[in-house]
Amino acid sequence: MRHLSVPSKKTASVREYLTTQGWLAEGYGIQSIGDNRAIPLNDKAPQSIKKYKQITLSPLSPPPKHWTERLDLELFTEYKEYWPMSHDQIGDIIILKLPSEIIDFGNTIGEAILQQFPNMRVVCADKGVTGKFRVRDLQILSSRNKQTTETIVRENGNEMIVNPSVAYYSPRLANERLLTVESAKKLKNRLGRPLDVCDPYAGVGPSLVTLLSEKGLTNKIYGSDLNPAAVPILKQNIGNHWAECRDARDLSKEHPQCADLLLVNLPHESINHLSKLIGLLKKNQETVIRGWAIIDNESIDTTKQKLEKILDEYIINDITISPSKSYSPKESYASFEISLTIN
Ligand SMILES: C[S@@+](CC[C@H](N)C(=O)[O-])C[C@H]1O[C@@H](n2cnc3c(N)ncnc32)[C@H](O)[C@@H]1O
Repeated sequence: MRHLSVPSKKTASVREYLTTQGWLAEGYGIQSIGDNRAIPLNDKAPQSIKKYKQITLSPLSPPPKHWTERLDLELFTEYKEYWPMSHDQIGDIIILKLPSEIIDFGNTIGEAILQQFPNMRVVCADKGVTGKFRVRDLQILSSRNKQTTETIVRENGNEMIVNPSVAYYSPRLANERLLTVESAKKLKNRLGRPLDVCDPYAGVGPSLVTLLSEKGLTNKIYGSDLNPAAVPILKQNIGNHWAECRDARDLSKEHPQCADLLLVNLPHESINHLSKLIGLLKKNQETVIRGWAIIDNESIDTTKQKLEKILDEYIINDITISPSKSYSPKESYASFEISLTIN
């Protein structure tokens, strides 16, 4: 294929000129030849363009747009309707759901994906979230070096360690964590001092990491989780703050009245556990509970009444329930925020 050889400094401007003239061979790469760059030309390009030399080179084909283009064509065609077109990314791990029809090609799929994404280290098949710790059952399909699902994620500008096959972590909740920071800032302003925060379902601590990144927002931090595998990671993520493996429902015996702000993130059980968590809140001042729950689409009002009933001994200043996304056809994932005073 004909290429126009130009000094590397001129590459961008000449490429633009060729595009406007309709002479650039679209979809082929620019190649380095010493200090020059060779820009691919199409059949319409004249034999002489400005003062630049034309040379003949094998074209540099563009990389495949999708990893499935790296599969053997026969294999790809036979299972055409089953190849997953989307995936999740957590740190340097790619996670995808494989239909049973193609599960036997797991390693081939993993290799193709690693070739496609040079910065990724591990490819895993996601077999769903299991057990009371809400951990993903991940099967490593292929990895560049370490066969581990521990990785570092960057979220809202903060880095933290996660390991989705041993402890719950969802990047989809990153925005909820920012909303928690907004609530915390307002409470801090109302109380006129940094907050003591308790997160008894902390997992690996993404909410606490986000709160801690705001200078002057927090004072004491209490983070715990019942999953023993989450706690060593939580400890690393929140530094010298208190972090232990505990059942949230027992924590108020150990740390009574420790929190201005209490986080309750066990969506299937948050509301049922609530009465056991009240002892964690400070008395004779405003406190805030920020929680998450799966609620019936029709039942925002009944959920509010349920919360009012659980808290009827205390002064409820405000309750807000905000459904944020659909969980199932009939249910939503919602956050609730309660401002409470316990005398
Ligand atoms: C939905 S995850 C939330 C984790 C974390 N807050 C986050 O946003 O990534 C719920 C967490 O609660 C923990 N858990 C389940 N039952 C618990 C209990 N009774 N006491 C404390 N933690 C519990 C699970 O291990 C899991 O890490």
